[in-house]
Order: sequence, then C-alpha cells, then structure tokens
Amino acid sequence: MVRIILIGYMGAGKTTVGKSFSKELGIPFYDLDWYIESRMRKKIPQIFDERGEEGFRTVERNMLHEVAEFEDVIISCGGGTPCFFDNMDYMNSLADTVYLKASPEVLHKHLLMARVERPLLKGKSEDELLTFIREQLQAREPFYNQAKHIINVDLMDNFEKIQITIDELKKQLFHGK
Ligand code: S3P
Repeated sequence: MVRIILIGYMGAGKTTVGKSFSKELGIPFYDLDWYIESRMRKKIPQIFDERGEEGFRTVERNMLHEVAEFEDVIISCGGGTPCFFDNMDYMNSLADTVYLKASPEVLHKHLLMARVERPLLKGKSEDELLTFIREQLQAREPFYNQAKHIINVDLMDNFEKIQITIDELKKQLFHGK
C-alpha cells in the first residue's frame, strides 16, 4: 500500500508534482484544498471570509482526516496544514510524508503569479510578499522538517524540473535513502 503526502510552502509545486507522480504510479491524486472546496462547495477564500483562518483550519483538519485514510493515494496538502493541531504527527503516523523544500526566492517567483487566489497573500506588494514568505517559512520549517523525506526543489516551470523531482522522490521512497 502506498500513501504519500506532499507538504511544503505555498508555491513549492506540491500540486504539480503530486499530479504528475500519481499519473506515473497509476494511483489517485488528491489535493487537500480541492477536496475541501468540493466537499464544502465553496472556494478557499470564501471559507476564510466566512469562518476566519481559525474556522478554515478546523475544516482543513477534518478533511485531512478523511483523505488521509484513503489507501494507494498521493495527497498534496495546503502550506499551512502541517502547522496546526497535531496534523504533522497524524500524517507521519500513516503516510510517507515528503517536504518539497524551495528557497524563499523561488517561492516568491512562483507566488507573484498566483497571489490573488491565496487569502494569506492577498494585497501584498512584491517586496512585502518576499518578507512575508521569509518570515512565515522560518516559522513553519520546524513543522515541515518533521517530514520523513525532504527534497530540494527549484521552480517547477517545465517538464524536466518536475521529472527531476519525481526521480528524486522515487529514489527516496522506493530505494531507501
Ligand atoms: C495556505 C495554503 C493554501 C491554502 C490556504 C492557506 C497556507 O494552499 O490551504 O490558502 O496557510 O499556506 P497551497 O499551499 O496549496 O497554496
């Protein structure tokens, strides 16, 4: 049985890598944000608006407990998922957790393109965004670093880079370290 959970900061490429890897392995892929949106029939920003971040985190934890029970799956979770409640311990207890680790500069580049859809980043200037990423990443890394595997990633902007990450994933997950 394979159960892989990808974690990491917003913009690290969790969804991109998860989707490709699931195709290669021929097993289903779940993106936790998408799962939340389809179960709640609401977009993430709307959930933040209606329930605040605290309310969103509760929903996120409950939905994590639903998807993480599935077998033979790859799951990508939200950037904040590992940092609330006992989510990181929970994920480690039943899955191969993988931290996709990118530098603040790489994350900044990626997130400049997709800032609007993410409630936590909305309304920030370019400079403010970089400062925010640096600070939040520092606060979150102690959680991310608890993953069973850590893979350094670059900007996932072409097929080759995605493939390099997937090859590294296969090496760590299936052939030992
Ligand atoms: C969040 C990351 C988002 C989403 C929400 C909060 C975070 O997911 O869950 O906007 O706290 O880092 P992605 O990492 O998939 O963007």
